[in-house]
Amino acid sequence: MSDSSLVRRQTEGGIALLTIHRPDKLNALNVQVIKELGQALQEAGADPAAQVIILTGSGEKAFVAGADIGEMASLSSLQAREFSLAGQALANAIDGAAKPVIAAIPGFALGGGCELAMMCHLRVAGPKARFGQPEVSLGLIPGFGGTQRLARLVGEGRALEMVLTGKMIDAQTALAWGLVNRVAEEGSALDAARTLAGEILRQSPAAVSLCLEATRKGCEMPLGEALHFEASLFGVCFATDDMREGTAAFLEKRKPKFSGR
Ligand code: COA
Repeated sequence: MSDSSLVRRQTEGGIALLTIHRPDKLNALNVQVIKELGQALQEAGADPAAQVIILTGSGEKAFVAGADIGEMASLSSLQAREFSLAGQALANAIDGAAKPVIAAIPGFALGGGCELAMMCHLRVAGPKARFGQPEVSLGLIPGFGGTQRLARLVGEGRALEMVLTGKMIDAQTALAWGLVNRVAEEGSALDAARTLAGEILRQSPAAVSLCLEATRKGCEMPLGEALHFEASLFGVCFATDDMREGTAAFLEKRKPKFSGR
């Protein structure tokens, strides 16, 4: 990682923290950020010292204020398609991650920023966070999955209201609509994300990973097929050391020591 990196990665206490570092542009997503994010996610995924990944933006004002409008303004149609596909590949990488990815959102999460937050498995907002898909005001539509993930998270009516008007909603509305899991105290979005990560870190890493897989993949399947898939992964648990340890620890009235195997 060089000083010119726009995405910084630090691992501590089982958590890989990925920070988008473009504070002068409110952490707007350009081609370089998308590329570095993909790389950082891959590295965090492969790092045995990291069991949970937190994604955030530099500073308190913004998580990410969208795709970089300056860069987008000069893209050709084919380059724009590539840009959208790169964002969607990032979503696929997060979706397929074996470790939970939590977005810590202190401020603006607009356009590609709202979409990036929605790619993550869990979201923690600060009280001043604002969410929106303002692409219509630029003559655009969301291109990193916003027309799809927003409707799945908050319902079609609310998603259409946000996408068609471009208006922002505040953190409490996002909480009420199910767009975020928690709203933290002022200045504490990252701490609250760490707290949430800590609650996951106490569990069996093997089971956490299988829960993610069952839920994420199952959501894309018809219910019958998804339940069958869940049963298969339930069976897989019985081949893990974590399941032996977790059940033994309960019966012996002690805390489990999970190995993640
Ligand atoms: N792309 C590129 N640059 C962006 C950006 C984006 N999406 N969002 C903010 N910036 C830049 C601004 O151009 C400004 O840079 P400058 O100081 O070099 O002029 C800097 O970040 C600070 O933003 P500014 O607009 O001055 O802050 P503000 O407090 O007045 O407003 C926002 C904050 C988030 C409301 C406003 O920046 C905004 O509307 N951003 C665009 C949001 C958007 O449409 N996103 C979807 C893109 S598809």
